[in-house]
Order: sequence, then C-alpha cells, then structure tokens
Amino acid sequence: MNTKEKTDKYVFNTYSRIQTVFVKGQGATLWDENGKQYTDFLAGIAVCSLGHSHPAVTKAVCDQAAKLVHVSNLFYTAPQAELARLLVEKSFSDRVFFANSGAEANEAAIKLARRYFNEKGQGQRYKIITMEHSFHGRTMATLSATGQEKIRKGFDPIVDGFIYVPFNDIEALKKNIDDSVCAVMLEPVQGEGGVIPADPDYLKAVRKICDDNGILLIFDEVQSGMGRCGRLFAHEIYNVKPDIMTLAKALGNGLPIGAMLATENASKGFAPGSHATTFGGTPLITSAAVEVVKIISDPEFLKQCREKGAYLRERLASLKDKHSTIKEIRGKGLLVGMEIDGDAGKVVSQCMEKGFVINAIQGKILRFAPPLIINKEEIDGLIEALDNVLE
Ligand SMILES: Cc1ncc(COP(=O)(O)O)c(C=O)c1O
Repeated sequence: MNTKEKTDKYVFNTYSRIQTVFVKGQGATLWDENGKQYTDFLAGIAVCSLGHSHPAVTKAVCDQAAKLVHVSNLFYTAPQAELARLLVEKSFSDRVFFANSGAEANEAAIKLARRYFNEKGQGQRYKIITMEHSFHGRTMATLSATGQEKIRKGFDPIVDGFIYVPFNDIEALKKNIDDSVCAVMLEPVQGEGGVIPADPDYLKAVRKICDDNGILLIFDEVQSGMGRCGRLFAHEIYNVKPDIMTLAKALGNGLPIGAMLATENASKGFAPGSHATTFGGTPLITSAAVEVVKIISDPEFLKQCREKGAYLRERLASLKDKHSTIKEIRGKGLLVGMEIDGDAGKVVSQCMEKGFVINAIQGKILRFAPPLIINKEEIDGLIEALDNVLE
C-alpha cells in the first residue's frame, strides 16, 4: 500500500486532503514524492513562518533532543523560562501558560476568564461574547466559542455561556453587555472566517466597553500573531492591548505549542492546581520557540513582512483589474484573502498543478499565508500562475 492508500485506510476520515504526498521542505519550497517542486503560499496554515527546515530551529531541536526532552511541569527547565521571559518582554503581558495547540491555549483563556470572576465571588459572570465567523478551535469549549454554525453542528449540547455578535459591529456588542458577561474574545484579523481584519477603530471601542464594564478582553492571535500580520502581534496595528492573548501556530514553526499570555491582574484567576497539561512548555519545543521568537521579533524582519505583504496585495490588486471574477482583496501583512466569484477549491487545484500551494476557505476565498521569508520573485511566480489559472 502506498502512503495515500494507507492514510485513507487507517487514519480517521476527518480531513478532505489534496492528492499530494509531501516529502521535503526547505525555505518556501516543498517537494512531493515524485520530485515535483512547489512554492508554498500556505506554510502549513500560517505555521512554518520561518520556512521549512529553518537552520536555527533545526539546531535548537537537535541540540535539545540530545540533552533533555521532557521532565514534566513538576520541575523547572531553562528553555521554558527563557521563552516565557521573551514573550512577556515583547508583549503587553506579565505571565505565560504553555499549552500544545491553539485550541488548548483558547481553552486556557476561557477557563481563566471564568475563574478570574469566580475567585472574586462573582461566579454569575461566566458568559463570553465572541464574533460571528470567528474560529477558536475544535475542543468542546472552543467550538462552542466559535461563531460558525457548521463547526458546532452535531455536538450538542455545546458548552453553555457563549454569545455571538457580528464582527465590527460595536452596537451589537453593546446590546449584549450585562453583568453575566466575563469576557469578550475575538481575533484581531479573523483567519478561518475569511481573512477579515477588524475595522480601524473597532478594537479601541471594544477595549473601552470592556474597561467601562470591568470585562476581560481576550485576543485570539493563534493565526494573526507572530509576525503574520506585519507586527509581532496583530493588535499592535490597532494600538489596543488585551488582558489575555493566545498564540500557537507559528510560535513553534511547526512544532506543537500553544501559549496563553495575560496581565498580572488577569492571571490571578489561576493558582496551583487550577490548570495544567503534561506536555505544556517541554524543553524540546520551547527551545525551538525561543529561536522563533528571537528571529520574528526583530524589527527589520517585521518591516520586511510588511513590505512583502504590501507587495503581494498590490500584485493581487493588479490581477483584479484584469479578472472580473476577483471581488475583493483584504488582509494584513502576509495574511491575505482574495474573494472570488467562483469555486476557490478549483483554483487551488490548478495552482497546485502549476507548483503553487495555496488554500481555499469558506468556498470562495483564496487564502495566502506564505512563510514570512517568501521573496518577491516567488510572489511574482504566484501572480503569473494565478493570472493563467483565472484566465
Ligand atoms: C484563530 C484561531 N484560533 C484557534 C485555532 C485552533 O488552533 P489549533 O488547530 O492549533 O487547535 C485556529 C486554527 O486554525 C485559529 O486560526
């Protein structure tokens, strides 16, 4: 049996896979089992931001694997401490909780928000307002937080206490605020929902509502964070700070890690015993993430992400003038969406044939989330391929 046959026979049938078996990656290039070369404009869904097999990450993993892989959070380890220090130093936050994925980081945030008020004797404050078209994960609490019916379908009863309001609609948010609400949770740039950035003044208005009502503000930056949107965290674009933020995806450049960052005040909701996970912050993974944070947080690196993001959007805009099927191009930094009047899945297949990996979401949106180290020639190559495909 070959790889595809084995996978289809033995692995749970939960993913609609493209018929390609990848065997190698280097920078923004991937190779399949037949030796065909692809330029990667997806980066494992905004994960391999430094590109595939980045030497600093590879070295950190190899060195640490030879030294110490895991001991449990019953003990201290240096890479975990260093990663926490770096994240705190480079963000609004004072403390970090390490998890293993985006959904787990969001679970931690949801639990922290509830428990924060519980500790204050305000257990009636447990509801969390989230946004329509949001995506927060696939665990029971995070799918319940997710503002998309199709993600929640078939899992009733979902976790109680989530209210969905339209994104970028401040009046709708205001209408749902009362003293049963503990937090507002949102993605500064919605990813899975269709690459939808917050309006320029929206996050400031949300922050004010939260402050006026003593409510915690949670930013899910699992996809938008770690340089993806041209700043280390997307909320920096809007000049608004949350009380709690979640990260995952690019934090490990492909190694599984999630993190919840919080202010000292918000972090008071947790004490020893209130939350834990066996693999959270193991030396192996955090040693890799330390290298990732160091590289991505370099201001010059982030400047280049913004420039290349602007270049990609500009080149896509030039296609819009030629192809009436293109309805809108949106996004921040190198998280870019192109809405088309047609089947985005077909465009993905044809781009794959031409050696470019892109992605379709919500049926009619093409998502581009290349490694942040992508170069202009690679962007030009994609534009030429798309031009042909859309023709
Ligand atoms: C904004 C956001 N939050 C949470 C998640 C869930 O992350 P994970 O798949 O690592 O559980 C995702 C994944 O796409 C995401 O985009």
